[in-house]
Order: sequence, then structure tokens, then C-alpha cells
Amino acid sequence: MTRATRATINLRALQHNLTVARRHAPDSRLMAIIKANGYGHGMVEVAQALEHADAFGVASIDEAISLREAGIPQPIVLLEGFVRGDALRLIEGYQLQPVIHHPEQIAILEQTPGPALDVWLKVDTGMHRLGMSPQDTPAMLTRLLNCPRVASVRLMTHLANADDREDDYTQEQIRRFESLDDLSVTARSVANSAGLLGWPQSVSDWARPGIMLYGVSPFNNSLGKQHDLRPVMTLRAQLIAVNRHQAGELIGYGGTWRCPEAMPMGVVSIGYGDGYPRHVPSGTPVLLGDRRVPIVGRVSMDMLCLDLRECPEARIGDEVILWGEGLPVEEIADAAGTIAYELLCKVTARVEFEYTTSEA
Ligand SMILES: Cc1ncc(COP(=O)(O)O)c(C=O)c1O
Repeated sequence: MTRATRATINLRALQHNLTVARRHAPDSRLMAIIKANGYGHGMVEVAQALEHADAFGVASIDEAISLREAGIPQPIVLLEGFVRGDALRLIEGYQLQPVIHHPEQIAILEQTPGPALDVWLKVDTGMHRLGMSPQDTPAMLTRLLNCPRVASVRLMTHLANADDREDDYTQEQIRRFESLDDLSVTARSVANSAGLLGWPQSVSDWARPGIMLYGVSPFNNSLGKQHDLRPVMTLRAQLIAVNRHQAGELIGYGGTWRCPEAMPMGVVSIGYGDGYPRHVPSGTPVLLGDRRVPIVGRVSMDMLCLDLRECPEARIGDEVILWGEGLPVEEIADAAGTIAYELLCKVTARVEFEYTTSEA
């Protein structure tokens, strides 16, 4: 690789974050959510590092197959289940556990002979995305328990707004789920990261942490560090030019930033073609050494510009950190008007990924 734009994935930090999840749910089993390429960190590497996770949750059969082909032995849950009956051959063959969220899937199970599967029945307690209504759930469960295609049923739901600790909608969702407490199922699962860290009543037999494993706070008003989480991805690039511009000169596409005085300007080898968000405003920080330095002008496809007035010692080749160690991705997401989930998932393929187990 000749371009020094890379994402360092700290697997030790990932493992540490799993132990934080365990601490919040010592009596639960943990299904690590690693869909979307492990939230952009590399799904197989993440799964291999999380050897103490009790199960993995993915979105698609293709993701699950990649894990099995890499030799991952834990149960794998298909969070979106399946759409057509022909998927069942793969589900059996790779020993996957589908989430059943629609009566159509129960009909497919009833009509397709084959070995019995462990399944999860999803209840819609208020997210209104996937799941059976609490009213319909008992009848759907009875059908599943009577279906020769089903070996066991676990009950789950998903929280819609647990990232807001002030919103009592989460409490209402938990209450709706608890109204099904007398149903006979193998196990229950409610908590995502926000549930684990902020809503102890949501912690049950299984918890399903995602974003916290990657070191990011699930809440809209805190940082991972405040929950003892460590950043897993550090995104780095390099100063490829240090130029001097005169007072009044315009910087970048659209000339959205004007030099207030004669000043040094750094150019960094990263842009939206690498997944760095184009929408961050001037003033969004990067780290140069241990100093926060503001971006100025528009982020372009391959580059962005820095105001180096406070860093006269900056040189071509210096490393720049865009987020990660020392600069929370939550802060950059906030500047870009999005969430850290999206930034982490969107780092593009031309960024080199390197995996480390160092403590630093
Ligand atoms: C069903 C389900 N459970 C758990 C999670 C993990 O959520 P989080 O990353 O907020 O912990 C997700 C992620 O979207 C999900 O879809």
C-alpha cells in the first residue's frame, strides 16, 4: 500500500468492551451483533476475536455463511429471518437460527419438511419494524411449538428509543414484553447496548450488544469512555502537503472558507471516497500528534484541508487521526449530523484495515 490511509482495529479493545457488556449482564448470555461487516470493522476478524461471545447476530444468510466458512462455531442468529422457503436448506446446512417475525415465515416452516430448527420469535413491542403484535404472539408461538420444523423457540423484541434515557417509551416496551411472561419459551431477549448500559429492567436471558462492542456510547448524550468502553477503530491518514496561503484566499470546492491572514494549510489524504463524511463543517477537529486541529473548507473525495496556524511544526508525512484513539467518533458523527454507527459502517474498501492486539 502506498497510501497511508488506514483503519487500525484494536481487537484487545473489542474484547475489553465485551467484558464491559458481561459486567452489566453477569447472568445473561451475550449475542454479539456483528452484521454489516462487524459495524464496518471486519466481520470475521471481529467474530474470531470475540471467542467468548455466546452467539452472533447478523442480518443476512450470506453474512452467516462467511462466518461458518471462517470456522466460527457459535450459534448464529439471522436477525431478519428468511423470505423464501428455499433459504431453509442453507439455514439447516449452516445451522443458523432464524428470527421469525411474520406469519408468512411460519407458513413456510409448516409447509416445508426437513430437520427441526432453533428459532427466535420476534415481538413488536413498539418499534413497528419487524415482529408480531403482543396480541398475536401467543397464537404464533403455539403454531411454532406445534410445527415439526421447530425444535425450540426463544422470544425477543427490539427497543426503539433506548438511546434516550429520558424517554419512558422504553419502559412501555418492556412492560408490553413482560405481559407475555407466562408464555412457555426457551429464553427471552430484549437489551441492545443501550438496554444493557441504561435500562437494567431490559436485561434478561440473552442480551444483544452491538455498538458498545465497538467502543461507542449508544446514548445521545455520552461518550464510550464514560461507560468504560474503548474505541476499536482508529482512522488514520497523512499530511500530504503543507502550503502557505495569503490572507483572503479561498479554500477548497465552493471556496467556503477564507484565510483570515497569511497562514499554513495542511492537506490530508482522506475524503468522502474513504468514508469520511463530507458534511462536517469547518472547525471539525482531527488529531495531529496530540493536538486538535480544525478542518477548513469542504471535504473532497480524497482530501481535506487543515488550518495549521497552531501547528507551525507540522510536516508532510505526519500522521493525522480522524477518529478513534484520542478523538471520539461520536464527536465527528455529531458534527456530521449523523450517528457513529453510520460512520463506522461506511469506511470504504480502499482504506487499508490492519488488526492489532496491542494494549496501547
Ligand atoms: C435486533 C437487533 N438487536 C440488537 C442490535 C444491536 O443494537 P446496538 O448496536 O444499538 O447495540 C441491533 C442493531 O441494530 C438489532 O437490529
